[in-house]
Amino acid sequence: MKSLLEGKHITICVTGGIAAYKAAALASFLKKKKAEVHIILTKNAARFVSAITFKSLTGNPVITKMFDSSSFIPHISIAQLSDLILVAPATANVIAKAANGIADDMVSTTLLSSTAPKIIVPAMNTAMYENPITQHNLKKLINFGFDVMEPDSGEMACGTSGKGRFPEINRIYGKIIQTLSAKQVTPLSNKKILITAGGTIEDIDPVRYISNRSSGQTAFAFAEAFIATGAKVHIIAGHVSERALDNFTSKFGTNDITMIRSAADMKKAVDENFEECDMLFMCAAVADYKPNYSNHKIKKADGSLSLELSRTEDILQNIKNDSNKIIVGFAAETDNIEEYALKKLEKKNLDFVIANKVCGNESAIGGECSSLILFAKDKKEQIIFPYLPKTENAFKVVEKIGELIKD
Ligand code: CTP
Repeated sequence: MKSLLEGKHITICVTGGIAAYKAAALASFLKKKKAEVHIILTKNAARFVSAITFKSLTGNPVITKMFDSSSFIPHISIAQLSDLILVAPATANVIAKAANGIADDMVSTTLLSSTAPKIIVPAMNTAMYENPITQHNLKKLINFGFDVMEPDSGEMACGTSGKGRFPEINRIYGKIIQTLSAKQVTPLSNKKILITAGGTIEDIDPVRYISNRSSGQTAFAFAEAFIATGAKVHIIAGHVSERALDNFTSKFGTNDITMIRSAADMKKAVDENFEECDMLFMCAAVADYKPNYSNHKIKKADGSLSLELSRTEDILQNIKNDSNKIIVGFAAETDNIEEYALKKLEKKNLDFVIANKVCGNESAIGGECSSLILFAKDKKEQIIFPYLPKTENAFKVVEKIGELIKD
């Protein structure tokens, strides 16, 4: 599967506030995600950032007038061409116009004449944002089917502090993914996916523990890919890298994440949420052994120290799958990848097993890239996904799983 935004026509209506300069960074970000970015600039917005900036960033002519004969796109066709329209930043003025059906410039006319999904990104002074008139207009837009983002809070350009800042680009990107995926029908649309992420922590004593090098990046990449195909995810995350967690939550928030510590906690959380899900995606590197916990800090002594480890419960193998939910397991292997992966598929009664290599140059552990092999129950073929960024491979694997469960 291509990146979700590849080839999509995204129109950003930039209206006149100081945050207009942040729309330039947004345009550049979306362009890097391979979207075809179009800009409509109001007269006031052009006083903050010039059309040349946007033209250079997007590679497309910038629309500034209703009747612009030099524009390659007739003004009405931008409304039809767009797969998504963002008003970013959206001033109180454009919000009021859109909410009341006023069409007196290119932005408001496009909003009224397009059936594409629309996201409003308000950014303005706190008093204007909190004004009941603006709030009323935003509610009206929500009722008319617009997606409206909450602004960030913090210091404002006018020197005050409060709600009204342009959101971080990652959060806008998360919203774009959710809005676009809600419009497409895939075999995974609205399916509930329970995903486990990261490693577990097995405590030795109050200050020490055993864990592993899993960063959770693979699980977050898969979670994003599932969201992009219209599925709903609930992540049960153990020990993950702060960067991977921040990257995910800055796009999709923290609501759908349950943080746990040990293998026993993960088992409890999976058992509690299994009934609700359509698919269990067991990505976590669950510890197979745990030490016998000491309530007191173990003091050092001369000579070596032996720790006795006992087995943790195997979550996948012991899941009670009475209602035939789809179960996906992972096989992290250093050698004999195919043989061990197929053994796990059978032994743990999985629908799919995804094998990844965790040694050598192409190790999946901790890095940004991985190579994966997907094995499906009852299917002889193995599908190889060569060494690529985890996000790209996740999209491809999710798409393939969608195809296979549809058959
Ligand atoms: N798994 C699990 N519970 C455990 C250990 C592993 O549910 N206590 C799951 C993992 O999340 C993964 C799959 O089982 O989806 C395979 O994990 P892996 O550690 O690769 O294999 P193991 O079965 O633990 O076998 P081995 O360590 O011998 O390779």
